[in-house]
Amino acid sequence: MCGIVGILGRGPVAEQLVESLKRLEYRGYDSAGVATLEGDHLERRRAEGKLKNLEARLSGDPLSGHTGIGHTRWATHGKPTESNAHPHATDNVAIVHNGIIENFRELRAELEQNGASFASETDTEVVAHLVESHLKNGYSPQDAVKASLPRLRGAFALAFLFKGHNDLMIGARKGSPLAIGHGDGEMYLGSDAIALAPFTDTITYLEDGDWVVLTRTIGVIYDSNGAVAHRETLKSGASSFLVDRANYRHFMAKEIHEQTEVVGQTLARYVDMTAKRIALPFELPFDFNDIGRISITACGTASYAGHVAKYWFERLARMPVEIDVASELRYREAPLRKGDLAIVISQSGETADTLAALRYAKAQGLHTVSVVNVPTSTIARESETVLPTLAGPEIGVASTKAFTCQLMVMAALAIAAGKERGELSDIDEMKFVGELIEVPRLIAAALAIEPQIEKLALDIAKSSAVLYLGRGTSFPLALEGALKLKEISYIHAEGYAAGELKHGPIALIDESMPVVVIAPYDRVFEKTVSNMQEVAARGGNIILMTDATGASEATVDSLATIVLPDMASTFTPMVYAIPVQLLAYHTAVVMGTDVDQPRNLAKSVTVE
Ligand code: F6R
Repeated sequence: MCGIVGILGRGPVAEQLVESLKRLEYRGYDSAGVATLEGDHLERRRAEGKLKNLEARLSGDPLSGHTGIGHTRWATHGKPTESNAHPHATDNVAIVHNGIIENFRELRAELEQNGASFASETDTEVVAHLVESHLKNGYSPQDAVKASLPRLRGAFALAFLFKGHNDLMIGARKGSPLAIGHGDGEMYLGSDAIALAPFTDTITYLEDGDWVVLTRTIGVIYDSNGAVAHRETLKSGASSFLVDRANYRHFMAKEIHEQTEVVGQTLARYVDMTAKRIALPFELPFDFNDIGRISITACGTASYAGHVAKYWFERLARMPVEIDVASELRYREAPLRKGDLAIVISQSGETADTLAALRYAKAQGLHTVSVVNVPTSTIARESETVLPTLAGPEIGVASTKAFTCQLMVMAALAIAAGKERGELSDIDEMKFVGELIEVPRLIAAALAIEPQIEKLALDIAKSSAVLYLGRGTSFPLALEGALKLKEISYIHAEGYAAGELKHGPIALIDESMPVVVIAPYDRVFEKTVSNMQEVAARGGNIILMTDATGASEATVDSLATIVLPDMASTFTPMVYAIPVQLLAYHTAVVMGTDVDQPRNLAKSVTVE
């Protein structure tokens, strides 16, 4: 992953580079660094860990150059040490890189044979040495980069700085995003428009295979064949203000609490509240009656949103749905049928596996719809139809509000499909839309149970493992609950279909095992109660998330019963997501972990 930035400025750029890196920390925060041209020298400052360490390094040993590049890292090759931190440099070139150079071993061996000496364990450093080798052979910087790029296999966004060339920066993209920012006598490169927003809103996105030669006044873009390419310049709309935590202790807490509002905004974009009808923001370029099968692909939390949606499409539109994690779809060479529909779901819109799945589906001739939160993202730009979620910037690494907004969009789409296929009547549509309209209010009611969850978190924090169980649409929510808990509290957790318990995981249950059962009072409630009995009989500590009827009908003793508002059963995951998220959040707070930036993770996963 990683975030990269480059500035050809009119004054010292180190501070601006750091300002920009702060906005890219969602892409990784293992280490950070900047390089500037100080007169005729390339100078670097790098530090392990969060950006504050780099800031401290810079305040003790400042840089004053007007041309510079910066990087925040999510380690792929080599530990997150200072020597592996970017920028990587040789005598004449410094580079920052986002992505993976897959053939770095062979390139490194070749370069070492020719006398290059490496200072890091990274894949990135080979690029610096490769370019350096061409410079030493008398190539210009531009020709050296041009000769090097075809030798790189893998995904990358790169920014290059050259000793002795104060008015030059080169950028290149293949697979990983890179944008040019146009300033007044200044030029910028950045992983996204958000990184550049404090300096400019005039943005040109490079396309795959493009590379650009920048000076302070002009940027010349070349495509992968070396021909000059013209790419559209847009106004980005990204806010120049860093989103703040308001009065919350963590972004995650703020984002959990924002759900009433953002799910409501998303709802308002997809339904006509007065008529109680679905009103999609864009006309779909296909008819659901012509679609034989839907293929939903996503990663992590977004894939669980897709998993819930599978139940909705099957039930409301009677459509066959396949759900895949994106990293699997592509390599198992799934036989997709031309003319069918592929839906990809992604908060960031930059997840490498999801993007690859989208491209795979496009290549097979499917219609593509993306459900994304960042409308300027690569996935949004490359899909046939974009259905935006209106969650606003999600900063906490653990996805919360994007998930419920994804569910809202998918619910609206499933109803639209059911209606178009004649599976739902006008009355049905109005009934289901009526249920969606209730959701923001129900989320607000669910948030009111926070004090109870806060107390419960004290118990969960003492556990070494937690099981989550659910049936129907509560099953993917159980998976999501387990993911959320493990990623921010580091407590091992697993989610299971409640009926699967007896096929293995029941062996884990003893008095020390909390079992979170997600069971709204719906048509499978009684079955789930039977599974709870099995847990109780083996001494497991049940935490039941249900509604008032469920609480009175459940005949099993529980450690805690979390009573959520009564609601119609179809769209319960959007409301039951709240206690699931709160439980993970408060447990992590008790454990004292870095809730918003948990170890080893990054917000945008742009490597395979
Ligand atoms: C978990 C989480 C991740 C993301 C996944 C996909 O809380 O945030 O599992 O859901 O990395 O990211 P996007 O949605 O950006 O494609």
